[in-house]
Amino acid sequence: PIPNPPAPLPAGQNGLKLVNDAAHPFMPQGNQIRGPCPALNTLANHGYLPRDGVARPDQIVTAVMEGLNLGNDFAKFLAYQAFLLNGNPLTNLMSIGMKTPLTGPDPPKPALVGGLSQHGTFEGDTSMSRIDAFFGDGAAFNQTRFNDFLAFASKFGVNGTYDINAASEFRFERLQDSIATNPQLVFTSPRILSAYSEAVFPLVYFVDGRLNNRQLTQDAATSFFFDQRMPADFHRQPAPVSFEVIEPLTGKLFSDHPFVPGVNQGVNNYIEMPNTPAVSDFCGIYEDIALRVVPGQYPKPTGQLRDALTKNLGFLFGAVVFQHNCTQVFPYGK
Ligand code: HEM
Ligand code: MG
Repeated sequence: PIPNPPAPLPAGQNGLKLVNDAAHPFMPQGNQIRGPCPALNTLANHGYLPRDGVARPDQIVTAVMEGLNLGNDFAKFLAYQAFLLNGNPLTNLMSIGMKTPLTGPDPPKPALVGGLSQHGTFEGDTSMSRIDAFFGDGAAFNQTRFNDFLAFASKFGVNGTYDINAASEFRFERLQDSIATNPQLVFTSPRILSAYSEAVFPLVYFVDGRLNNRQLTQDAATSFFFDQRMPADFHRQPAPVSFEVIEPLTGKLFSDHPFVPGVNQGVNNYIEMPNTPAVSDFCGIYEDIALRVVPGQYPKPTGQLRDALTKNLGFLFGAVVFQHNCTQVFPYGK
């Protein structure tokens, strides 16, 4: 049976807290699976997630709430979106990196069950610390990319921190660079939303909750992105942080440098796709995931598989209904 997603952290236990604590010691990953998300890699290295890098979606929800104080609905939105695109609905397991037999026997193709490293699903182009998959491994940390991240902090951030202005300029540069170099660039829903969210996550969740000034030092950034380790004495956010904090920040990134979703057909040939959902169209992106992206891998599921997909799509909807008031859609009937 598929467990229901966890409830919010109880009042009184949802506040400021030392999270790099004795119960969650850093251990190097060894040959265990890690992938494109610096936060999930770090949480696995501290044992908030199973250290082997294979987890159920409800475990991911719990890990990001406990370790970084994501709001419950926001945690569910990320975890169930990823699970539907990259997990195994039959075993309820997902790899946080490459595809692995540890997630059990796959459902029939065209299902991918590729793990978070699977390009063109949740993982996509214009990342900040990884290269575009056209050029190689899109999941592995890339020092050259990350040096640019630090350089933008030095150039645009207050006291050389990665702050909202550094995020805004870097996000814009990442897109311009991919337009100029990646002939197969894809920058459409749902990738556009994750690209914009991930640009602001570090200046929120990776900043120590006692300071909580939305200015990430280069040392702390290096700790999370490169070492995949919480800084010594790291405290999480002082209260759960959800859509209502993240969206105004991504909104500023967009208004600083607006763009139209699109794809490259050859370098420097960006074809705009104005009829696909924009980064501001949250419910449009939810519907695109539920009605196009998921059925792309699961066109005509039956039996247990259909039941599992319907259940997980319901969990995804549960994460988007309150703050966005989206209308539920049913790719496989009600
Ligand atoms: C990137 C998944 C939570 C920070 C990514 C990527 C995936 C992913 C698939 C790769 C996208 C790409 O760059 O191509 C998830 C899932 C989460 C989650 C399933 C479930 C809750 C978080 C949290 C943070 C975070 C809580 C907080 C800081 C980042 C950052 C990147 C990223 C900064 C961008 C890395 C880069 O551009 O190089 N995540 N993530 N993620 N994630 Fe997560
Ligand atoms: Mg990427």
